[in-house]
Amino acid sequence: MNAIGSLMAALTVTALSGFMTAQAQTAEPEAAIVPGAVWNDTEGNPINAHGGGILYHDGTYYWYGEYKKGKTVLPEWATWECYRTDVTGVSCYSSQDLLNWKFEGIVLPAVKNDKEHDLHPGNVLERPKVIYNRKTGKFVMWMHIDSADYSKACAGVAVCDTPTGEFEYLGSFRPNGAMSRDQTVFADDDGRAYHIYSSEHNATLYISELTDDYLRPAGRFTRNFIKRSREAPAVFKHDGKYYMLSSGCTGWDPNQAELAVADSIMGEWRTIGNPCVGPDADKTFFSQSTFVQKVMGKKDMYIAMFDRWNKTDLEDSRYVWLPLSFEDGEIRIPWRDKWSPDEL
Ligand code: DGJ
Repeated sequence: MNAIGSLMAALTVTALSGFMTAQAQTAEPEAAIVPGAVWNDTEGNPINAHGGGILYHDGTYYWYGEYKKGKTVLPEWATWECYRTDVTGVSCYSSQDLLNWKFEGIVLPAVKNDKEHDLHPGNVLERPKVIYNRKTGKFVMWMHIDSADYSKACAGVAVCDTPTGEFEYLGSFRPNGAMSRDQTVFADDDGRAYHIYSSEHNATLYISELTDDYLRPAGRFTRNFIKRSREAPAVFKHDGKYYMLSSGCTGWDPNQAELAVADSIMGEWRTIGNPCVGPDADKTFFSQSTFVQKVMGKKDMYIAMFDRWNKTDLEDSRYVWLPLSFEDGEIRIPWRDKWSPDEL
């Protein structure tokens, strides 16, 4: 190599290493959960995973949620507050400690070039949840798919061989022939899984067993909280009992949370009151339930996950995660300004 060649090579290496250093730089590690603050990922960007849920798989927590990017609009034909952002897709973040989250990318992207597609930006994609099927070895995502005016009321399903995508979208339908909006999925210890969704114009909550591959309803379902208008369901199991946290139906505005308990996932469900404790507990700390995640390796320790919606700037909606504790047989979700799963 001549002198000019060596100089160019040295410059390239310097430039490249500078670039690589910049790329590898990560944000300061997070030491605490601060409900309602802007939470950054390990690259220092705000975490964008709304209406989300967590899958724990092989020692890693994966957080999936709505990637709400861009302007929030209220369509000019709106007769109610159906504020929305264009569908961008479902994001995924991974973590070992539930504090520091690495962005894994958009694992189910919007489909921009097909107006008829469920995942077209002009539609609605909400509350994605992922479960792992031990039999098929597949990761299965269920989500709420809707038209911009929320009249489609369907559930969508996507599948992948890995937790970090890209998921293959299989389509949408009305499970058991009934409307499906706010929703979650729950995989039980025996391998059976269930789809839990607000139906009948959000008046009644359906719990529907899934087929062995988790891709369709198996045909057995129950109607719960009949005409009690529950949405934002989050289901967890503790000491052989099933618990469900949910909200009332007030659009993007907060209302009082409610906890219910059952001996069988299919019901009967018995309401046991509002578990939130502290200032603004009657408004769920200005947030709405989305998921309850067990802290692995810690006995009786769960995190209740809520969204604090900012209806006129949905991208800037925040996360309110709080410890859910079992005290003297009672379940409580006390407000904390700042806390860490480690300190409990
Ligand atoms: C409340 C639901 O829980 C949200 O996911 C969203 O669908 C809003 N309603 C829309 O108003």
